[in-house]
Amino acid sequence: MLILGIETSCDDTAAAILDNDRILSNVLSSQDTIHTKFGGVVPELASRSHLQSIYPVIKESLVRAKLCLVDIDLISVTQGPGLMGSLLVGFSFAKAISQVSNIPLVGVDHMAGHILSIFLEDHKPSFPFIALVVSGGTSSIYLAENFTTFSLLGRTRDDAAGEAFDKVAKLLHLPYPGGPHVSREALTGNPEAVKFPRAWLEAESLDFSFSGLKTSVMNHYNQQNRQERDLQLQDICASFQEAVVDVLIGKTILAAEKHGVNTIVLGGGVSSNQRLREELEQRCREKEIAFFVPRPEYCTDNGAMIALAGYYKFGKSGKTSLHDDVYSRSQLG
Ligand code: KG4
Repeated sequence: MLILGIETSCDDTAAAILDNDRILSNVLSSQDTIHTKFGGVVPELASRSHLQSIYPVIKESLVRAKLCLVDIDLISVTQGPGLMGSLLVGFSFAKAISQVSNIPLVGVDHMAGHILSIFLEDHKPSFPFIALVVSGGTSSIYLAENFTTFSLLGRTRDDAAGEAFDKVAKLLHLPYPGGPHVSREALTGNPEAVKFPRAWLEAESLDFSFSGLKTSVMNHYNQQNRQERDLQLQDICASFQEAVVDVLIGKTILAAEKHGVNTIVLGGGVSSNQRLREELEQRCREKEIAFFVPRPEYCTDNGAMIALAGYYKFGKSGKTSLHDDVYSRSQLG
């Protein structure tokens, strides 16, 4: 089955073609240069940019796969969660080409794409597994039982992990998106220099909270004079990153132990963070838990993971009605 995957939930316009689970093309147009001067995603600019990019991005995905639209068997598109205006561009475009080309359409949950993105790799996990999905919009832990059954075990109560990285970067006058810049500064910093708080919440809770940590970084930063701030930048980044990584890993391992699962999969844009990847891998090794993480281009938003999630959802539930609409909050689990 040839599947066209379309993703426009936030600030990346992406399209990919899969032959079952094999990638034939994977095209992405990033909006980072548009949003960087505002220090975050501006929803109105994001949807306008999707409008301009969606046709060339889809066309390019077909060209690279050496296919035409008539060859496609299924159109899979992100239906939610995300920014409503951004989602509407991709979903409406997908509906239109589904209608005129008579190709079935399947709307998928963006989170299912992140959970399943590991299956784009050759080395695949077996079910059940615990998935930690960390991105600009979410920090969630799922129990994945098969390709279409996921239970939400924990989620953020306020800021997502990536959002915390972005907000701390803005405070420290680092560019957007902040994660890569904070983690680059952290490389030469001391993670124990500043004791930032870890929000473990109630005993056994698998939920996250990062807004207190962000406020703590702000208070610490505001107490420094300019010279101290410059000297301490790397230490602040390393100490902040360590506080995020500690909690993400602690709760993910707890989830695996609570549910008697011995496989952990990492996904979402924040999984590009080297410290998180290495430390989680190390902790899994100590606990004899199998650890999987896709390469960085499959961790960030992409059309291939949406095509893959659509392939499995279509197999189970069939096509999505053209009367369906987008949604802003995940409906998974
Ligand atoms: O999944 P993703 O591409 O899409 C959105 O949710 O928008 O994730 C983007 C997020 C941003 O918040 C970005 O700062 C964060 O992932 N990110 C990182 C790193 N690379 C990207 N966070 C921490 N460390 C990184 N190396």
